[in-house]
Amino acid sequence: MNTVVLGLQWGDEGKGKAIDYLAGRFDVVTRFQGGHNAGHTVYYQGRKVVLHVLPSGIFYPDCLAVIASGVVVQPLQLVEEIRNARELGLTLRNLALSENAPLILPFHQQLDVVFEDSRYQRIGTTRRGIGPAYEDVVGRRALFVGDLLRETVFRGKIAVLAEYYNRLFAAYGHPAMELEDDVRRYLEAGEFLRPHVTDTTRLLQESWRAKKKILFEGAQGSLLDIHLGTYPFVTSSNTTIAGVFSGTGLSPKAVDRVLGISKAYATRVGEGPFPTELKDDFGARLRTLGNEFGATTGRPRRVGWLDLVALRHAVQVNGVDDIFLTKLDVLDDLPEIRVAIAYEVDGERSERRDTFPCHAEALERVTPVYQALPGWQKKLGAIERARDLPKAVRAYLDFIEEFAGARIRYLGVGGERRQTIEIAD
Ligand code: IMP
Repeated sequence: MNTVVLGLQWGDEGKGKAIDYLAGRFDVVTRFQGGHNAGHTVYYQGRKVVLHVLPSGIFYPDCLAVIASGVVVQPLQLVEEIRNARELGLTLRNLALSENAPLILPFHQQLDVVFEDSRYQRIGTTRRGIGPAYEDVVGRRALFVGDLLRETVFRGKIAVLAEYYNRLFAAYGHPAMELEDDVRRYLEAGEFLRPHVTDTTRLLQESWRAKKKILFEGAQGSLLDIHLGTYPFVTSSNTTIAGVFSGTGLSPKAVDRVLGISKAYATRVGEGPFPTELKDDFGARLRTLGNEFGATTGRPRRVGWLDLVALRHAVQVNGVDDIFLTKLDVLDDLPEIRVAIAYEVDGERSERRDTFPCHAEALERVTPVYQALPGWQKKLGAIERARDLPKAVRAYLDFIEEFAGARIRYLGVGGERRQTIEIAD
């Protein structure tokens, strides 16, 4: 079954673990949006590996690993990631990179930093140039991986774009960027990547027609979607199901199942509203228990209770069939576990709603209404079968399923691949 794996929160749901657990069952694994702002943590031969752009399929030599045309690519970073993967003994002969993937150029990273440090637009981005690179796509002036393979074309296009950006930097009081070194390094990276560059839309279409099993590997989370997330505190791509189609060139008919990933609690990095955030000592304890520090930037993540209003929104916009609930073991010791089931808007006596308002201004006005559920106060890490789960866990899962409107099929109860419990019908 061709499966889309999507984050249902603000990213960092444990998609890396879920995808790593499932990837061996697929012939093709493809990334379709985002860039090296993502950080998918997986364990390979006992070593912790953080992937940023490389699809998790690289760990399986028979699996085709695709970076499709919706992904923004910083070539120097990708080369480094490939080199690191080769050091682990992986050949990466199975890697395909879209010739139509937009490039993240030095100006993009610079502009991301300029904006983040200005008073105009502080989003708490990963400062990797993701937003400005996507802006150039929408602005119809982007450069693509294919351009890197033609030196004269690349030099010509980047020179035109440099004029545009240097005017912008001047307006912000920043010096013009010197590009010659970067241009040379980008062209070298292009040569390094050349054997992998191809028409991935065609490749994916052919794979689909040949009935290969395809796994679509989402990055970030639904609440960071440029259109359906907590705007403007979002990333600049469609992190929801829509991104699969524009980012690969496959049609919705190629998707059989949508698997949404959610933690048993919530986290967020960067700025933006987070109704169930715990800013107290308990939140700090949960952060330590869950080791909630960014895989890409190392930033401490903001931590809170699971927000079922937000989760249901994510389930509905993505058409989620099944949920992979991760990090359940982090809650093992708690006598009581809370979940948000509604929002009060503008204080106590106001309207109560149970739908997610998306835009940040509206979300900032809500206070969550909680339901308290009994904890299980047992260690789950060694449990292998769903039928051995404590009753309180089952009750907790039933409550989430009922509210969110999707089945929980997998539970993560520890960092290891084997610490995953499958729940059959
Ligand atoms: P950008 O994607 O770097 O532009 O950052 C925009 C927002 O998305 C910021 O709040 C980031 O912290 C967040 N973000 C981007 N990538 C990830 C991710 O992989 N996990 C969690 N948050 C992310």
